[in-house]
Amino acid sequence: KHYVSTIVVVFGASGDLAHKKTFPALFQLFQAKLLPENFRIIGYARSLLERDVFVKKATSYIKAPADQVASFMEICEYMHGSYDNAEDFVKLRENIEAGEEKASSHKMERTSDNILKNRLRIYYMALPPSVFLPVSENVRKIVYNPEVENHLVVEKPFGFDQESSRVLNSQISKDWLEAEIFRTDHYLGKEMVKNIMALRFANTFYEAVWNKEHISNVQITFREPFGTEGRGGYFDQFGIIRDVMQNHLMQVLSILAMEQPASLNAEDVRDSKTAVLKCIPPIVLEETLLGQYTKSVDGTKPGYLDDDTVNKESNTPTFAEVAIHIDNDRWRGVPFIMKAAKAVDVAKVIVRIQFKDIEHSIIPKLARNELVIQISPEDKIYLKTIVKEPGLSSKLTLSDLNLSYSAVFDDSLIPEPYASLLLDVIGTDHSNFVRADELDEAWRIFTPILKRIENEKIVPLPYPYGSRGPEGESDFHIRFGHYKPRQLDYKWFSPEDR
Ligand code: BG6
Repeated sequence: KHYVSTIVVVFGASGDLAHKKTFPALFQLFQAKLLPENFRIIGYARSLLERDVFVKKATSYIKAPADQVASFMEICEYMHGSYDNAEDFVKLRENIEAGEEKASSHKMERTSDNILKNRLRIYYMALPPSVFLPVSENVRKIVYNPEVENHLVVEKPFGFDQESSRVLNSQISKDWLEAEIFRTDHYLGKEMVKNIMALRFANTFYEAVWNKEHISNVQITFREPFGTEGRGGYFDQFGIIRDVMQNHLMQVLSILAMEQPASLNAEDVRDSKTAVLKCIPPIVLEETLLGQYTKSVDGTKPGYLDDDTVNKESNTPTFAEVAIHIDNDRWRGVPFIMKAAKAVDVAKVIVRIQFKDIEHSIIPKLARNELVIQISPEDKIYLKTIVKEPGLSSKLTLSDLNLSYSAVFDDSLIPEPYASLLLDVIGTDHSNFVRADELDEAWRIFTPILKRIENEKIVPLPYPYGSRGPEGESDFHIRFGHYKPRQLDYKWFSPEDR
């Protein structure tokens, strides 16, 4: 769609999210010449900032030659204003309108009746939940213009449980149409997550075995080598299940497990994702392992409770492993084992689809085929495959059919998730954003376990910072049918990769 002008208002422009993600993502699009013409960015926040301070903050995470950064900053300006004072929003509206006027007079396209509809305004909420509603209400009341296209970009947390998320949604939907709302989950902007659809629906042999006849179990694992340092206050209220599982990992699960959508149309994709979530009963405590990290064994890294912003008695889990069951014909009996861990040994987000054994094989069992999709730190897909060891012996070994993006593609082309998502917002493509009913289903699955953990004050098991996790971590997936061969002569082209 062609717009005469596009304006992005970044609310919370002096905050962390804006500096670390929003401005660098907009810069990446600018650098790649993917921003439409007459594109303006207005940073809006409460602090009174001189232009040079704003520029310094907004560019602090952008790594690029100075002249490119400087020309990007020419399309950015900063306005300070409160989040609840109508007069400040009037000023913002006037500023936006002045820019739109200028853009359309430049183009001399005023003859067209459609001129207003060809303007896009994006209201990007890089804001904490406490100010989100006052801002969205003020924007709707004072800044919004029904004659132009308006997109509201919302960041997590989307509520605290199913009930509060419903309340939040009904408050937002009083003012905004679902078609105007873009709920971001940055995992949906990750290259490998976006790739799952192509892998599943464009390759005959994957789609043919993508079911309970052939798959034994699926693991979706998130491991991070750092703790909650600096974010303890936020994290202590939310915990790892709300922070990573209910949103990021559940999005990955829904794309892995959904039926093929009727088309690539955003609503068809979101219908399929929602439909599979509806087949998932709530997670139960008996199929959950919870942990909280303590000081590292060598004493150099702090424990979770050592953070001053964390309640000293806190039972908030920083590690969780859960079993998810999908009650439909494709998946009945195939556990999806989800793990999220902070302050553990490595940084890795990975999906493992483990296939069943071949019945009545003449070859002795060595291992199982496993399709592995690594989402980060590197983008790769490999299929663990049993082969004969080369040479005169008839020994078997496990190796990989390997597609490592850095070896095959120019992986510098892989965009930051936020850049890819912002491009979708500009292009009005909702496929990679979370719809209200999809969100509600995800909360339905997690709310009962969250309530039990909190009401019954379940104490998480301790694990040292930098370890693999609490006791029982290595057996949890085995309990759900994952097969791990012992002492395997596993061949990999680069041993440190394993
Ligand atoms: C965020 C969580 O949404 O995702 C963080 O709040 C987490 O706790 C982060 O570290 C992980 O994202 P990524 O892109 O680094 O895998």
